[in-house]
Amino acid sequence: MKKLLIVTASVISLAIAASQALASEPLEFQGTMKKLGTQMQTITSAIARENWELVDETAHKIAEHAQPPAEEKQRIVAFMGSNMAKFKAFDGQTHEAAHEVAEAAQVKNGQSVIAAFQKLQTSCLACHQAFRPAFTEHFYGKSK
Ligand code: HEC
Repeated sequence: MKKLLIVTASVISLAIAASQALASEPLEFQGTMKKLGTQMQTITSAIARENWELVDETAHKIAEHAQPPAEEKQRIVAFMGSNMAKFKAFDGQTHEAAHEVAEAAQVKNGQSVIAAFQKLQTSCLACHQAFRPAFTEHFYGKSK
């Protein structure tokens, strides 16, 4: 019986240690961001090849990027507090600029694609500059 108790106690403490490690696991949101980064690279290379179909398709993926799962969204909303509207507005700018890139690609207007792409990059940067340091500090205990 005593042995069983000891085993049970160590299983419990293992579980606690595991959940603490999970607390600083990257958010799904970070996975979405990594994907956006790769998609931006795809667009850059597609522009160089004047592959407007690929630009269009990839810009759509950026515009329709995944939302974090509900539980994670709650943690983000809680962290953002009164800044949530601003955070959302940056996200809105990214969506809008990505749509502009897609529209320009549909009519194969290279100059407009590049102009809209610059707007898109600026929208990413604006949110990163405003929120990323505090965000990573809060969720991972370090800024990067
Ligand atoms: C609404 C705010 C917001 C917008 C808009 C935004 N990002 Fe981010 N991004 C973040 C935050 C916050 C992080 C830090 C997330 C984390 O580390 O969990 C991040 C992190 C990243 C990272 C680093 C991921 C890693 O490997 O740690 C990349 C790459 C990235 N974003 C790309 C983009 C691109 C490309 C766009 C525009 C198409 C974009 N982001 C638009 C908020 C935003």
